Amino acid sequence: MAGILLSVACMIAGYLIEYLVAPIGPMVVEYLLGPIASAITCIYYYKSNCQGLRREIEKLMLVSERVKHMVDEAERNGEEIESDVQKWLKSVREIIEESNRFFEVEANAQRRIFCGLFPNFNSHYQLSKKAVEMVKIVDELQEDGRFDRVSYSVTPRWKGFAPVEGYKAFDSRMSTSRKIMAAFRNESITTIGVYGMGGVGKTTLLKELGRLALENKLFDDVVMATVTQNPELKKIQGEIADKLGLRFDEESVAGRAVGIPYGNAHKGCKILLASRSLDVLSTEMDAQKTFAVGVLTDQEAWDLFKKMAGDSVEDPDLQSTAVEIAKECAGLPVAIVTVARALRNKNSFEWKNASRQLKRPNSRNIRGMQAVIYSTLELSYHQLESEELKSTFLLCGLMNYNASIQDLLKYGMGLGLLQDVYTTEEARDRVYTLVRNLKASCLLVDGTSTDGFGMHDVVRDVAMSIASRENHVFVVRDDVELVEWPDEDTLNKCTAISLQYCDIRELPDRLRCPKLKFFYMGCEDPSLKIPENFFKGLNALKSLTHCKSAFSCLPSSLCFLGSLRTLCLINVCWEM
Ligand SMILES: *[C@@H]1O[C@H](CO)[C@@H](O)[C@H](O)[C@H]1NC(C)=O
Ligand SMILES: *[C@@H]1O[C@H](CO)[C@@H](O)[C@H](O)[C@H]1NC(C)=O
Ligand SMILES: *[C@@H]1O[C@H](CO)[C@@H](O)[C@H](O)[C@H]1NC(C)=O
Repeated sequence: MAGILLSVACMIAGYLIEYLVAPIGPMVVEYLLGPIASAITCIYYYKSNCQGLRREIEKLMLVSERVKHMVDEAERNGEEIESDVQKWLKSVREIIEESNRFFEVEANAQRRIFCGLFPNFNSHYQLSKKAVEMVKIVDELQEDGRFDRVSYSVTPRWKGFAPVEGYKAFDSRMSTSRKIMAAFRNESITTIGVYGMGGVGKTTLLKELGRLALENKLFDDVVMATVTQNPELKKIQGEIADKLGLRFDEESVAGRAVGIPYGNAHKGCKILLASRSLDVLSTEMDAQKTFAVGVLTDQEAWDLFKKMAGDSVEDPDLQSTAVEIAKECAGLPVAIVTVARALRNKNSFEWKNASRQLKRPNSRNIRGMQAVIYSTLELSYHQLESEELKSTFLLCGLMNYNASIQDLLKYGMGLGLLQDVYTTEEARDRVYTLVRNLKASCLLVDGTSTDGFGMHDVVRDVAMSIASRENHVFVVRDDVELVEWPDEDTLNKCTAISLQYCDIRELPDRLRCPKLKFFYMGCEDPSLKIPENFFKGLNALKSLTHCKSAFSCLPSSLCFLGSLRTLCLINVCWEM
């Protein structure tokens, strides 16, 4: 084919030369021969140029796939993609689109040849030339695509704390917010405290202040950490250091420059604390200035409620019920957003039912939480559409503060909580969907990492309380010490045990818990030994997680766990 093409091409070229020689003269011929000769080469190599382009594009696609995988991974880790990488990916997209168009035109040109029509050499020449140009670009892109890193870490820049929805409307908080910003600017104040009851919106205020402080360039970095009553110093240091992009070489608590950098040695560093208790702030934490966060005014509460529940609350047959329910929420944002989301798009009888439910006195009272919060959150829980969603929510309550969707996937699959899924991929998609639904219901919030999720602490309290009541779950949170094991009767009914932080010296020889399905053990003490027969009485156990234990070998009673489907050993140290 190429041979035939060549002869025809030469003939045409010859014809052109002849044609051009006659009227213009020899000088011009010489001048024209260069481009014409290259035109001939172009046409001669037409086919191989096209094939070459195809090959190089395929190679480029492989390179770009590699880069895309790196980008995906970086994005999952919440990192920002370098702009040269973004620009490169854009160029790759463009050249691939261009090559697709090219091959379409080329296929048309081929078809014309095969149809026996006289080939359009001009178009062949153009296409061939174009192919050569594109190969050059594609080669350069391949060369440029060898990135060692595609992203940079952005955690210190308060990523994920976008303006909070509905927040701007809270005029009642603006004056507090302004005063705290003034305290940030005052050099003699380094420790500031914010207090208010659970669910009043302290965390939201802190996030908003962090965002404002960065926006106004008051600080280079803003870092947030959750400190519980029984804090694991190492964990908090780690969390803060991670977010500041620091690395510790020392593993001991003291070696890691204890605590939070502040005081004269760290001028410019300030601490903003939030607590339910003013005492904790002023006596234990020495806060120099403290500010109260109060409940929302009636108007603010109603505006927020309307925003979360949708415009239907203005319907004449809903409005009075909606106003009543909004009032029941007592100006507490957590109660307002969850209940409004739960009732969004519901019928008027469901609204009335909810209103009645909320008015019923609630005897449950946990840790000084307002009864209204319990009632509203419980109502939101009961409004969840499926059992799958409800059990996922309760499971999230059993997980620790820094839980990831990956963990949820492991436990959810182990417990057989996901309905009708057959592969890990299906399960992963399902878990992402469930988490998204729970976020839409305001029962979960975004986590610090892309793969994480968070839960407001009062929501967690309610989740654990519901779980304890409905499923006989036994939870020891990371701010409460486990003094002794529950009694035999409780253990007989127990379906889940979650010891998030436990300070136990000794485990029972054998744990008799015939209904136990989920067992999470996060222990600080690596010297805690697990007795050989510890797992013997756990026939129903499906998901077992051990953190930070030391094993010389796994306890032999593990083989009695006939129902076990998920076994996670995290930070386990193997003694040789
Ligand atoms: C800074 O705070 C100190 C202590 O509260 C206060 O006495 C001082 O007036 C403040 N300075 C300014 C400029 O507001
Ligand atoms: C929080 O979770 C993320 C993702 O699972 C992990 O990379 C990070 O180290 C965790 N941080 C702490 C302080 O445990
Ligand atoms: C009324 O509310 C209760 C508790 O939230 C719930 O169990 C019940 O199903 C609701 N009834 C209707 C008809 O929605």
